[in-house]
Amino acid sequence: MVQLKAPWNERNGRFSPLKAVVFAGLFVPAAWIAYLAATGALEPKVVTEMIHRTGQWAIRFLTLALLVTPLMRGARYPKLVAIRRMVGVAAFAYASAHLSLYIVDQHFALLHVVSEIALRFYLTIGFVTWLGLAALAATSTDAMIRRLGGPRWKTLHSLVYGIAVLALLHFMIQAKADVSEPVMMTGFFIVLMLFRVLVKRGLPAWGAALAGAIVSPPLTALIEAAWYALVRHIPFWEVLSANVDPDMAFRPSAYVALGGAAFLIVTLLRRAPATRRSAILVPRPAASVGR
Ligand code: HEM
Repeated sequence: MVQLKAPWNERNGRFSPLKAVVFAGLFVPAAWIAYLAATGALEPKVVTEMIHRTGQWAIRFLTLALLVTPLMRGARYPKLVAIRRMVGVAAFAYASAHLSLYIVDQHFALLHVVSEIALRFYLTIGFVTWLGLAALAATSTDAMIRRLGGPRWKTLHSLVYGIAVLALLHFMIQAKADVSEPVMMTGFFIVLMLFRVLVKRGLPAWGAALAGAIVSPPLTALIEAAWYALVRHIPFWEVLSANVDPDMAFRPSAYVALGGAAFLIVTLLRRAPATRRSAILVPRPAASVGR
């Protein structure tokens, strides 16, 4: 018989306050969205608003799941591995609510939904993203890891990076006029990816975080300017120069710079002395949607 473990317990069955708090926190956005819908705060387009908010939380949780491993390394806090799986599965749950609400919005006309997904590029991307998240969530259990075997499981779960790129593309294309939030999320994704790649190549955590903090903001600004130039035909240099204009609102690159700097500070504060470094255990990889 399959034994279900309580999500707030450690593997050894002991209660984990960290897991309990994170588990409860994952329900807060859903409860807030439901509250806003019930109190009429999302009128007149209640379902449309709910589609947007669940989509935003799906991508935020996916990004948070991808943050867990770099934070474990950078902040030397291996216990975080315990929450990676649940944050990743939450991304899938919010994405599923997002898709279900879309079906509700289309008055359950499933053939119409299928044709829309097939015909509209951003919906096709959204659907592929959802399928990918479903595959990762379904193989996140301990039993599935044992069944697939470590290396095969790891290969399958490295799909999460491609899935995140597709999610960001879906976010970007549907945003139409203002791509500030998707560009900012893309910038955070770049910070995390650079960190992973550079640490894998042997750089110390603080060095990889420093490189990410320096490179990611200008890259974010370039992506933003290129997007507006290609899609909205707004001159490339006009958008790029807005990043250094003090009269303009805070640009996505500025938020990415803040995020990258915060991550760098954490890695610097938690930097272990060189002599102790070899004694620090690298945490064992565990199941998750976001690795
Ligand atoms: C079959 C799957 C999906 C469908 C049918 C779908 C559909 C939609 C629709 C209709 C919108 C609103 C577009 C508009 O108002 O013009 C949207 C927005 C969005 N979707 Fe999806 N989506 C899917 C999958 C996903 C997945 C898997 C994610 C994230 C992991 C995601 C994240 C988002 C985000 C972040 C937004 C923008 C929300 C906002 O800015 O307010 N979607 N999606």
